[in-house]
Amino acid sequence: MKNVLKINLYRPQKKLINYAADIIKKGGVVAFPTETVYGLGADATNSKAIMKIFKLKKRPSDNPLIVHISSISQLNEVAAEIPPKAEKLIKIFWPGPLTLLFKKNKNISKNITCDLDTVAVRMPENKIALELINSSQTPIAAPSANISGKPSPTKAGHVLKDFGVSVDLILDGGQTKIGIESTVLDMSEKKPMLLRRGAISQIEIEDTLGENILFENSQSSKPKAPGMKYTHYSPHAEVVVVKGKNRIREIKSLAGKLSNRNEKAGIITFIENKKYFKNFIVKALSRKNDINLYSKKIFSAFRDFDSEGIAIIIVEEVPLTGIGIAVNERLIKAANQIINT
Ligand code: TXA
Ligand code: MG
Repeated sequence: MKNVLKINLYRPQKKLINYAADIIKKGGVVAFPTETVYGLGADATNSKAIMKIFKLKKRPSDNPLIVHISSISQLNEVAAEIPPKAEKLIKIFWPGPLTLLFKKNKNISKNITCDLDTVAVRMPENKIALELINSSQTPIAAPSANISGKPSPTKAGHVLKDFGVSVDLILDGGQTKIGIESTVLDMSEKKPMLLRRGAISQIEIEDTLGENILFENSQSSKPKAPGMKYTHYSPHAEVVVVKGKNRIREIKSLAGKLSNRNEKAGIITFIENKKYFKNFIVKALSRKNDINLYSKKIFSAFRDFDSEGIAIIIVEEVPLTGIGIAVNERLIKAANQIINT
């Protein structure tokens, strides 16, 4: 049976939401859109359902899941305490792409938190996601809906490609708005610590709290967010990121060498630089000053190059402004090689 259902992002059809919520209530797995990427969701209070997610994703058993909620009363079921600083952030950024870590409530399954004493929680800003959680009458645990290590899915088709019919249902709400995963911020200790960058920037958080926050370098060998130590966001193709003043020349020369060796290379660049790479296979994702659009398209570009049989993806560095800082973090993690020119 077909397991993909198209659903309206602005006015999700009640019938479809109820159908999906029934699957969640019965312990099934439903992929659904959020404003960041698609999530692979199950009832956060059902250990067996949670185990299905780990199995489907081939996710390492020490990598905990984010619990998605649709109301503050659900937060009280999940977190043991909500520090005043977290309340400030919640007021401004929820619903939205900010995941907060709290000391966990005792009744949260250790399948979700992987034996840590904290729980990650987020209220997504997507009507389909919110109504699904509401109708399921339970918080929904959901990692990104990709096979572990692959780029996160920004379209329903990406989820289908990774999981086929092994997922009970995929709700297709179109392309996700942001395109990279949420910011992850640990609020469980006195000093807030940024564990993963995302659309909500360090500066926005610091401005709201009126203090500097710590940032855990994602290259650390034992990061606090277990997920950050795994290879990530990687397409099948090799990824080379080219930085610095002479990057255009370097990209041209590298792509030239590869094509002489009959290795299929693909270039990811900006609209204004496309003209430099006329004889090559190119995806120009946005203009340089429109990094939000670039962010929306980057994971899809990785996946499309894979389907096109590209062996090496050469990515031009992105400007480190706005969400560019978070996009850059993804590119560096995906890279097999970084060339500084
Ligand atoms: O935007 C998003 O966050 C998407 C959508 C679906 O909400 N979800 C997502 O989930 O990206 P996932 O599982 O792919 O990434 C969650 C990250 C991982 O790095 C994980 O290790 C970390 O959050 N994490 C979850 N719970 C944690 C905890 N209790 N302590 C530390 N890190 C935690
Ligand atoms: Mg993920």
